[in-house]
Amino acid sequence: MIEAGKTYVVMGLLDADSLAYAIGSTIEGLGGKVVYTVQNEVFKRRFLDSSKSLTDEEKAGLDLRFCDITKDEQVRDVFAELAPVAGVVHSIAFANPRTCLGEEFHTEATDDILLSHHISCVSLATVARHAVPAMQGGGAMVAMTFDTAHVYPHYNWMGVQKAALEALVRALARRHGRDKVRCNAVSAGPLFTKAASKIPGFGSLTKLWQASSPLPWDTREDKQAVANAVVFLLGPLASKITGQVLVVDGGTSIMGGPLMEHELGEPTV
Ligand SMILES: NC(=O)c1ccc[n+]([C@@H]2O[C@H](COP(=O)([O-])OP(=O)(O)OC[C@H]3O[C@@H](n4cnc5c(N)ncnc54)[C@H](O)[C@@H]3O)[C@@H](O)[C@H]2O)c1
Repeated sequence: MIEAGKTYVVMGLLDADSLAYAIGSTIEGLGGKVVYTVQNEVFKRRFLDSSKSLTDEEKAGLDLRFCDITKDEQVRDVFAELAPVAGVVHSIAFANPRTCLGEEFHTEATDDILLSHHISCVSLATVARHAVPAMQGGGAMVAMTFDTAHVYPHYNWMGVQKAALEALVRALARRHGRDKVRCNAVSAGPLFTKAASKIPGFGSLTKLWQASSPLPWDTREDKQAVANAVVFLLGPLASKITGQVLVVDGGTSIMGGPLMEHELGEPTV
């Protein structure tokens, strides 16, 4: 549970489908002050124009700042302005779908791989360098990941970035324990968002989840379950948890294959 009245920076808002929006709304519902970061002015306009599910009043109530996560000075300015901050959510990733995702793993597009690595992984360290000084007395950071124990079709280089991101979460947890800043990740099952819709084969991934998940998995409704886990890790109930990956995926990642015929029947109680 987050601390009411304190400031939480939620980075990576694109539209009302973004995990960032589900997380920010949950924090606000618990009394936290939320500042979202949006990649740039164009994305902000697109968000305001395209988010038909939000009223004009809801849009006007959002505190939005620009921050391209690859620009060190933009990250620095956000945290210099917003201090003191109690928690930060890094909900950002990018990989060129033409080169880094798809049927063929191999690519000559090294620049695309490096850009994807910068945005999806290294940027968490940039955020930590600038956010930790804004968290005097302690705080929490949470990043978003996807199952790195298994290899999924099409996910290719993003799977590699997520494995590196999880290693970075552990490195930051070690580095910032002395600052009383915790760093964790939430590993979510597939959820419908803009980034997900760019992953070729996302439909087959969701079918795989529906066939394998011990708990029913809904790619829209279960954003809230993911947001709840992020909020838990941000707040004092998780005060001694750091360097961990909390899996919120309906149980799919523990499965040794899809559910069998006899497991798909009516509930037994
Ligand atoms: N949707 C899923 O199924 C799923 C599952 C597990 C993990 N995740 C992770 O959740 C996070 C949020 O993704 P999402 O699914 O909400 O999609 P999304 O498209 O709504 O969010 C991705 C965000 O990354 C931002 N971004 C990309 N490049 C940036 C840059 N240079 N500077 C600043 N921001 C930049 C985009 O503007 C966007 O706001 C990502 O890390 C994603 O990998 C998503």
